[in-house]
Amino acid sequence: MSDLSRRGFLKMGAVGAMAVAAPGMTAEEHKPQGKTVIGMPFQKMNPRIGIIGTGGRGTSLLGNLLAAEANILAICDAVPEHAEHAKGLVEKAGQKSPVLYTKGENDFENLVARDDLDLIIIATPWNWHVPMAVAAMQHGKHVAVEVPAATTLEDCWKLVNTSEATRRHCMMLENCCYGYNETLVLRLTHAGLLGDLLYGEGAYLHDLREELFSGKGEGLWRRTVHTQRDGNLYPTHGLGPVANYMGIQRGDRFDYMVSMSSPQHGLELYRKEHIPASDPRWKERYLTGDMNVSMIKTANGRTITVKHDVSNPRPYDRINQVAGTKGIFMDYPPRIYIEGQKGGEDWTNLDGFKEFQHPLWKEEGTTAQRVGGHGGMDYIMLYRLLQCVRQGIAPDMDVYDAAAWSAPGPLSRLSVAHGSAPVQFPDFTRGGWKERSASAIAL
Ligand SMILES: NC(=O)c1ccc[n+]([C@@H]2O[C@H](COP(=O)([O-])OP(=O)(O)OC[C@H]3O[C@@H](n4cnc5c(N)ncnc54)[C@H](O)[C@@H]3O)[C@@H](O)[C@H]2O)c1
Repeated sequence: MSDLSRRGFLKMGAVGAMAVAAPGMTAEEHKPQGKTVIGMPFQKMNPRIGIIGTGGRGTSLLGNLLAAEANILAICDAVPEHAEHAKGLVEKAGQKSPVLYTKGENDFENLVARDDLDLIIIATPWNWHVPMAVAAMQHGKHVAVEVPAATTLEDCWKLVNTSEATRRHCMMLENCCYGYNETLVLRLTHAGLLGDLLYGEGAYLHDLREELFSGKGEGLWRRTVHTQRDGNLYPTHGLGPVANYMGIQRGDRFDYMVSMSSPQHGLELYRKEHIPASDPRWKERYLTGDMNVSMIKTANGRTITVKHDVSNPRPYDRINQVAGTKGIFMDYPPRIYIEGQKGGEDWTNLDGFKEFQHPLWKEEGTTAQRVGGHGGMDYIMLYRLLQCVRQGIAPDMDVYDAAAWSAPGPLSRLSVAHGSAPVQFPDFTRGGWKERSASAIAL
């Protein structure tokens, strides 16, 4: 390439990067309403908990919370039977009957206004996460919200600003960060076994077609999102663990990303085979490309690929890959290669790396597996959250992680809509990422 054409290319690149800027994206547009919450410890207490949303996920989280002896005082669900069922579980665990809030979709406001709650767990459909989390923080409660925490950049900022203004934590329940493999690999990467990290890959590849077309649970709301957006609808399960490996928001940060979507076919084909022609769902037009692939560049120059496909036949896979100058780990199935290891270039399993098993899994692994929930990771996550509050330390994951890991949702849509142009990540930490220490999960 001649100097002239190289200059032209660079200029085009810069214009491309600037061409796609959503309103309300930058830190300058979002004046802080309070100081950073990085490292802010919880006030030491045994938290009194309220749960909003006791469908599939909320009920499962409740089982885990009860196994960790959490104190559940109030439950809200717009469907009274769901709340009643959850109440039965609390009573069966030997706790006092929780107060129920079941009078419609805004009754959560009465739950968060109670003055005897410290922590609100939110497991409702995506469009409710932010209004519920914001209301809870404004009423002085800490929040643990399901994934993705937010689906627009404005809402990511709203969570950050409210957390800073109210001095309440808003963590996203990214359970995959607490998996057995993820916690072990996190410790192994931080011990330097893979050298300097260069590349990571995460995904949510899960055949949800049957669930999306079922007339219950997520079938009541999640398919609709496929008629509204084209991009990565669910980035956090793949991205959270990779972000922790790489110290994202902790010495590095997501800088920009590009994204492209394949055509959509999966939901249409499934509908053709399974749904009668008279069904109103035949009026739906699906927009979400089946396979969305995004690439993220970090401030320190590393690269990350994130994928999303829930509309086609395939075994479940989050990829969970991290590669560096000395080796590589890939999941599904878990395998590792470190330069110089026995067996030439053959992969090896994680059996020889038990010394990196996380203390949480050593101590609580048996209970986690007995209680269940994605192989035990859900229990480990909630046990750890309760531990942080009970010991009065900062949470492992805070509102900046919730915002940055959710942001690829809206950013991928923006990039896809602009011919895969690069889009800049907001710096939700307002520069705090440079000073922040490694994830406490790595310890
Ligand atoms: N982390 C994970 O592994 C994981 C797994 C499954 C689901 N999720 C997340 O959990 C959340 C809930 O998913 P789900 O599978 O339980 O869905 P679901 O449809 O089974 O449950 C949602 C519940 O919220 C209730 N609800 C809806 N609007 C409400 C309102 N305004 N007030 C009170 N209750 C309301 C519904 O009645 C229902 O009981 C979603 O964000 C989803 O992405 C996460």
